[in-house]
Amino acid sequence: MQINSTVNQAINKQIGMEFSAYLQYLTISTHFDVEGLSELASFFKAQAEDERDHAERFINHVVAFNGKLEIPTINAPTSNVKSIEEAAKLSLDWEMKVTDAINSLLKLSAKEEDHITENFLSWFLDEQLEELSTMNKLLKVARRAGENELAVEEFMVRQRNQNSNNANSDT
Ligand SMILES: [Fe+2]
Ligand SMILES: [Fe+2]
Repeated sequence: MQINSTVNQAINKQIGMEFSAYLQYLTISTHFDVEGLSELASFFKAQAEDERDHAERFINHVVAFNGKLEIPTINAPTSNVKSIEEAAKLSLDWEMKVTDAINSLLKLSAKEEDHITENFLSWFLDEQLEELSTMNKLLKVARRAGENELAVEEFMVRQRNQNSNNANSDT
């Protein structure tokens, strides 16, 4: 069984988007690290790693489906992020773009009657909703904090503790 070639091409394009997100979040993380905002740095580092994981999930799908991996040219990430608000806005805009791309990919696989890919993509829909909501929250907090960058750092610490408490109570 082999993947439909139009779907394969669209997935290759998506892999490029995921790697591009990886580089963008890594760049933002490094910027905050240099600025001494270590909570934001590790938050964006974790986001970057999620994006690499997304790319790998798509690559595994290509392999499972006897497709062909062709990673497209990846544009350089934006390196002049000046504030937390700017970083959050950039990330939210990016996640909206990715969500549109996943939606188009779903439409394409349905049209090509590739239901295996359609089913595979449902995980990404949940993931996108989560990422959109995370970035939206960060943007709101950054706007409220204004010049007070340390308030955002404190918010990130509280979020991290909350997440680890939730993770502990799940087990
Ligand atoms: Fe992603
Ligand atoms: Fe993402």
